[in-house]
Amino acid sequence: MKAVYSGLSLHHAKAAPFKELIQDLLRTPEVLGLDNYDQHLNTSRLQHSLNVAYYAYLISKNMDVNHKDLVRGALLHDLFLYDWREVNASAQEHLHLHPRVALDNAKKITEVSEVMEDVIVNHMWPLGNAKPKTKEAWIVQASDKLCTVFEISNQSLQALRHPQLSGMMLSLLFVLR
Ligand SMILES: [Fe+2]
Ligand SMILES: [Fe+2]
Repeated sequence: MKAVYSGLSLHHAKAAPFKELIQDLLRTPEVLGLDNYDQHLNTSRLQHSLNVAYYAYLISKNMDVNHKDLVRGALLHDLFLYDWREVNASAQEHLHLHPRVALDNAKKITEVSEVMEDVIVNHMWPLGNAKPKTKEAWIVQASDKLCTVFEISNQSLQALRHPQLSGMMLSLLFVLR
């Protein structure tokens, strides 16, 4: 288990300060269930959520922020357990709906502070009505976008290294466009 483009296993002692913040959440069926859904191409939603949490943690390491709320909110920002294309939602509806669904689901598994709520509800900025209020939420929305680029570029590089995957990647991009 490691974040995209990171050489550090999250099981390594060096990752312990990060992992300690989310250890309990990583044991819940709700968070583990994110592994059953693709987020970007074939990056699972669990991997995406870990990526966003890890890079938000790295970005904010030397900043005066609430690291616990930031990392926990980041891990839970996309906590919805369905494929939105299969629930008859338009992309626009999904954009507005999924941060609220993630917040409701987060409240079922942990205490959600005001900072965490801001992180989750406003992570889609600048789309929809989202606008972060706290430093933590600004950092997580940036990490979310950064990780989307990392995930797509990483898979594109893998496809180039393995020509047999290129066809699959092109098909996926066609379906997701
Ligand atoms: Fe999202
Ligand atoms: Fe996300």
